[in-house]
Amino acid sequence: MQKLTKQYLLEETLLKILKEREKPVSGEKLAQLLGISRVAVWKKIKKLKELGYPISIYKKGYALSNKDIFLKEDIDELAGITRLFEEVIYLLETTSTMDIAKDLAEKGKKALVIAEKQTQGKGRLGRKWESQEGGLWFTLILHEPLPLRQAHFLTYLSSVAIALSIRETFHLPAQVKWPNDVLIFDKKVAGILLEIKAEVDRLIYALVGIGINVNNQVEDKEFLYPATSICEILKYQVERLPLLKSILKHFDSLIHRKEHILPAWKELSSTLGKKVRIETSDKSITGEAIDLDEQGALLIKTEEGKIERIYSGDCFHLRNLNL
Ligand code: BTN
Repeated sequence: MQKLTKQYLLEETLLKILKEREKPVSGEKLAQLLGISRVAVWKKIKKLKELGYPISIYKKGYALSNKDIFLKEDIDELAGITRLFEEVIYLLETTSTMDIAKDLAEKGKKALVIAEKQTQGKGRLGRKWESQEGGLWFTLILHEPLPLRQAHFLTYLSSVAIALSIRETFHLPAQVKWPNDVLIFDKKVAGILLEIKAEVDRLIYALVGIGINVNNQVEDKEFLYPATSICEILKYQVERLPLLKSILKHFDSLIHRKEHILPAWKELSSTLGKKVRIETSDKSITGEAIDLDEQGALLIKTEEGKIERIYSGDCFHLRNLNL
């Protein structure tokens, strides 16, 4: 347990005041509330800005330009939700939460790594993942004794946890898309990147990287698949903490009831029943996505009536038969 120093508590309190106030707070008011001098307030502001906190300075005082940052009390709350991890690492900026998580996993740590911004966000198949402020970017380190052939169940589990949480938190009709996406109104709102370390046929650790477009704008960007964000759909900024808490709760519950994962995925699926094109590293298959088998492979019925089992690849939903 980290011992909190007085200095640290003052900075936390300062951030909390700025987070709760609509308007800028003057240096004088902050000095009075914190019981320190105005010069000391200025020094704290300077330090917090250097750490990357989005504090704007106005004539009338100081304000947080993004009020949706996580405070220590939020992080403590997240840490109490599940025993899947022992610590929460919260970073204002990093290359990729996958890099930080990998270093920790190699040391045997179980952690949740969250970043406000990633400068080298990673997507599947070596693609870049746009990760500006406003999104929810995190990696969960799992040391689960899963057989290797079941590792991809973790992506199904994650997409189900995300879709259910978006439905419950924002009442939006989120659906899962094979293999690892979450869609709202047919546009991608979240993606999952699974990295594993394995030994023969056993998983040593898994890094489950989750990226959700929440308050970030994505409409003018070009993606492989049309993308959206929760705030673009709702037309207002939302709080990310309730969404993250809900995802962790669903994750915890599904990992202890693995038999629920595939039925829940099928129930929430936007892929099953659709005509799709799957591109794997060596071929392209077009047909109807008819089911997931018990191993988690997607079953495609081709035009010749043959059933193909697909374990990985890019999937495109074809809206009409001419595509
Ligand atoms: C995809 O759809 O291609 C997967 C995207 C995964 C993005 C997340 S954001 C948090 C974690 N850190 C990364 O660099 N990538 C994953």
